[in-house]
Amino acid sequence: MGFIKSEYSDGFFNVNYKNGFLPESVPLEFLPERYQPLQDILDNMPVKINSKSGYLDFPGKIFDVVSHLPNLIDQVQQENDIKIIQALFRGYSFLASAYTLEPSFQHYRKTGKYGKANNILPEQIAQPFVEVSNMLEVYPWLDYHYAYSLGNFKKIDKKGDHTWSNLDMCVRFSGQPDEVGFIMLHVDINQHSPDLVGSVISTLHSIKNNEVSNSIKYLKKNYLTMRVMNQRRREMWKASRWNHYNDFRVFIMGVKGNEELFGEGVLYQGVWKEHKQFRGQTGAQDDIIPMEDIFSGVIKHYPKNELTKYLLDLRKYRPKCIQSFFLDLEKSVEIIDKDGISGILNKNKNSKALCYLLGILEEIYHFRNGHWQFVQKYIMANTKYPKATGGTPIISWLPNQIKAVMKEMRHIIKIIGDLNLSIANKEFNLYKKIKLSLNKKEKLLREQLSLVNKKVFLAEEVFDLNKKYDLRDN
Ligand code: HEM
Repeated sequence: MGFIKSEYSDGFFNVNYKNGFLPESVPLEFLPERYQPLQDILDNMPVKINSKSGYLDFPGKIFDVVSHLPNLIDQVQQENDIKIIQALFRGYSFLASAYTLEPSFQHYRKTGKYGKANNILPEQIAQPFVEVSNMLEVYPWLDYHYAYSLGNFKKIDKKGDHTWSNLDMCVRFSGQPDEVGFIMLHVDINQHSPDLVGSVISTLHSIKNNEVSNSIKYLKKNYLTMRVMNQRRREMWKASRWNHYNDFRVFIMGVKGNEELFGEGVLYQGVWKEHKQFRGQTGAQDDIIPMEDIFSGVIKHYPKNELTKYLLDLRKYRPKCIQSFFLDLEKSVEIIDKDGISGILNKNKNSKALCYLLGILEEIYHFRNGHWQFVQKYIMANTKYPKATGGTPIISWLPNQIKAVMKEMRHIIKIIGDLNLSIANKEFNLYKKIKLSLNKKEKLLREQLSLVNKKVFLAEEVFDLNKKYDLRDN
């Protein structure tokens, strides 16, 4: 652990100003030919393939297909190319989730409720899956980075950018456009992460080296990039229809925290004698907001409760290079000042930089308030099941973090207020605008919470409230 470096690489991800949190190059679309039996299953597995039915459309079919899959462990053990290892991890992750959660999916189709999962993974999946997860040093379950999202995209127009409509998934569960739009929008938002990561690293170095104008420049860049990311986030409503979320959601459930589905856990035949529980893929494994929380100081206000423990537990579900990046980021903020970057900017009376820091907090707030509305519509209006795919109680979790952001906003507003600025410039206008709206934000959260805790919950009422306060964020 030390002061932040310019890059953190495992050969697949390389967190720096050039790639941000996206892989260094586009992931492999298909496995090499020697894995054709596995690739064939992945290709034919989605519930729908164009308009035709895939294996998952027929109850029990996947078990039949997997019974003919050879155990490719010997081949897997010889691999040393990280791109192949990642594609293998992705392939076995999808197959393991499809195999275990297929009964829950079929039950959901019949009754509208998730049924019990199958909690035994046969040797021909379990052994090579655990082998590749050991090579990557991650848990053997579908994750966000290497499997479902950031390591699972291909470009439709190869020369085009990462806009969600130009992206497709390499491996799918439902095969419907809503699944593709949902997860590819995460990649789309992350296409702007190079500027965000670059500005975080450069701000810290500028502050350390006492370069005042550079610290303002990079905080401004961070703020503007967060604004772009928030614009992209709002595309979710178009990219994936909320009432189709359940077409694929059950397949991304984790084991830990979802005992109703998995009981004591999953048995990895031929690997471990006891059942194992790992958390499911979730946007909570994404890196943008956690990085901004550490960088801006929001993390100081995370409440000390089970949900914060969960959030920190999720750090372990990230690639090792991203874990190291977060550790160094935390350390650097601490090295700069015991009160974080706001502490040093205050001491230096760097009011312009503080205004941009406040702007960044405002954008983190918008991200979370908009995201909270996704949860209300895509999940709470769709299902009574109270657990998220990562295994957390949905209602209490997200508002916790919104409150933490608002606490830090209050703190920075006070610092800027005490500096007694009277200059009229665009930074000061930003401060005034945000200061004016904070009471409204706090009131909105209180009223939203009382609505979602009512026995009969209507997402529309929450949306109307957001409109009333002119804080729609969707
Ligand atoms: C329809 C869209 C979305 C839904 C329904 C959704 C749902 C959820 C839920 C239920 C949680 C609680 C944790 C858990 O999974 O157990 C969560 C957390 C989280 N999600 Fe999402 N999510 C969506 C989109 C996104 C996007 C696009 C991102 C970022 C690219 C994201 C980033 C996060 C983060 C960082 C957390 C951790 C909580 C926090 O720090 O505030 N989510 N999400």
